[in-house]
Amino acid sequence: MPRASLDKRPAEIAAMFDEVAARYDRTNDVLSLGLDRRWRREVVKALDVRRGQRVLDLAAGTGSSGEPFADAGVQTVPCDFSLGMLKVGKRRRGDLGFVAGDATRLPFEDDAFDAVTISFGLRNVADVPAALAEMRRVTVPGGRLLVCEFSHPVWAPWRAFYAGVWLRVVPAMARAVSSSPDSYVYLAESIQAWPDQRALARLVADAGWTGVEVRNLTGGIVALHRAVNG
Ligand SMILES: C[S@@+](CC[C@H](N)C(=O)[O-])C[C@H]1O[C@@H](n2cnc3c(N)ncnc32)[C@H](O)[C@@H]1O
Repeated sequence: MPRASLDKRPAEIAAMFDEVAARYDRTNDVLSLGLDRRWRREVVKALDVRRGQRVLDLAAGTGSSGEPFADAGVQTVPCDFSLGMLKVGKRRRGDLGFVAGDATRLPFEDDAFDAVTISFGLRNVADVPAALAEMRRVTVPGGRLLVCEFSHPVWAPWRAFYAGVWLRVVPAMARAVSSSPDSYVYLAESIQAWPDQRALARLVADAGWTGVEVRNLTGGIVALHRAVNG
């Protein structure tokens, strides 16, 4: 069973997602207790793009993060480097124009999008500053960035429960529903090793994005980082 290490070597990460692709969406629903659907609605509200605008959904996986935009009439381009995830995505949502591409070397021209979003993807990218810079390159001046990612609960007892109990339970639950339970050990480890809200805001600003705003969802289990290009 492939299980990426925290070095996040691109080939290992892509292989791990290829392996989980078949049951990815179902596993997500189970492990998040259905909260993923609420988080996705908040992403659409926070990015606030209009019908007809063009949005890049990076690290799009099977398309679940991009489809609420497409359903709202936004021109959505889902891009990912796991061919397994893209294959499942094409079967699920053949109407979305999936593109294969690496977040650190995007196959798009400068200023190609009105906005860019990445949900539960940035944590898996080996070179986060390079990905944030690439996202800025392909976004028009004044366009928005929305990063939706697991983060660190802000209230200490909630944080203690989440890290001490929930993240230990997740790999056990994954054993029942996922096609690759070991990948969910990586999930729990990578969440704990990921920068907190403030540190990620700094990384976003260091890549040249401005006006960085942070909003916690579910007490900080997930954080939305929003910023503007310019
Ligand atoms: C947890 S999934 C998230 C999928 C989707 N955005 C969602 O919200 O369900 C993470 C995705 O990031 C993709 N990914 C990781 N590193 C990447 C990179 N450097 N370039 C493109 N995609 C990447 C993986 O292939 C995987 O499909």
